Amino acid sequence: MKDTYIFAIETSCDETSCSIIKNGNIDVATVILSQIDIHKNYGGVVPEIASRNHTEAITLVFEECLKKANMTLNDIDAIAVTYGPGLNGALLVGIEAAKALSLATGKPLVPVNHMAGHIYANKFVGEFKFPLLALVVSGGHTEIIYMDEEYSFKRIGSTLDDSVGEAYDKVARVVGIPYPGGPLMDKMAHMGKHKYNLPAPKDDNSYDFSFSGIKSAVINLVHNEKQRGNEINKEDLATSFQETVVGILVKKTKKALKEYNIKQLLVAGGVSANSGLRKALEDVCNELDVELLKPEIKYCTDNAAMIGAAAYYAYKKGDRADLSLNPEPGLDL
Ligand code: KG4
Ligand code: ZN
Repeated sequence: MKDTYIFAIETSCDETSCSIIKNGNIDVATVILSQIDIHKNYGGVVPEIASRNHTEAITLVFEECLKKANMTLNDIDAIAVTYGPGLNGALLVGIEAAKALSLATGKPLVPVNHMAGHIYANKFVGEFKFPLLALVVSGGHTEIIYMDEEYSFKRIGSTLDDSVGEAYDKVARVVGIPYPGGPLMDKMAHMGKHKYNLPAPKDDNSYDFSFSGIKSAVINLVHNEKQRGNEINKEDLATSFQETVVGILVKKTKKALKEYNIKQLLVAGGVSANSGLRKALEDVCNELDVELLKPEIKYCTDNAAMIGAAAYYAYKKGDRADLSLNPEPGLDL
């Protein structure tokens, strides 16, 4: 069978990335230019700055990717691009670049949902076995997705307010950890004790989540301790926060695995890099005899390789866009 090469572009937030993916699961070349150091100064991503930096970086990243793969656009079958969810101006830069490439080469344009990309980062680890569940935990989303066939998504639960990544970043900020605080909080969680009693976030029978309550509880705790002249132990706070948050994510996922009689679980999104979450999911999957796919750490946070992997299946299904493609910042799976 002839090989299929997808050229993928991802600019939905603060990473400018291009990738060439062969047959949906071979990473021929990936280039990621992160803007984290720029946004760190502001305590979070500033949308206007993100799109300006994407504009400056996109041509460079595109050329570097082709060079790394030692390929030209003649070798490519389709151009794929993230069209949502994400920041409007940031998405626009990738979309316009993809349209220009598609127009110049005559190659089809394949629109990809960023969250599908996160799920398909697992294609670099193993084959999907349906029906499966995906626990999607990122800076913008916290969802449990049911899939009974390739590239078909049914949401069975989601957060009613903040995402888990957002909660990590905000809690980190309150104790003076720079953006994005998730990775450092994860490291610190291994150094402390579960000393602070934080409210269990939406511990009910539904598959929905809520993280704004625990976020506010941490902010109040820090302020109250400060007023009393007490120092917060950051490591203990990180441990308490991580164990509480991971506890509810895993509890609801376990319930869903049983109810839907699932044999494979995928974890996806930036927070899938979290060591506490990975370990707790491994334990549950061992207990229930469910196979667990976890993306390689380099594919957990935003990158174009995952978009290329998802695009392969979108391309095979016949998903195509034309030059009227626009960003959809609130796009659902
Ligand atoms: O998927 P992602 O790169 O961007 C979105 O699509 O939103 O996720 C970024 C989020 C940030 O909130 C970051 O703090 C979080 O993922 N994150 C982590 C870890 N690594 C990244 N959160 C907890 N533990 C980690 N190890
Ligand atoms: Zn993402």
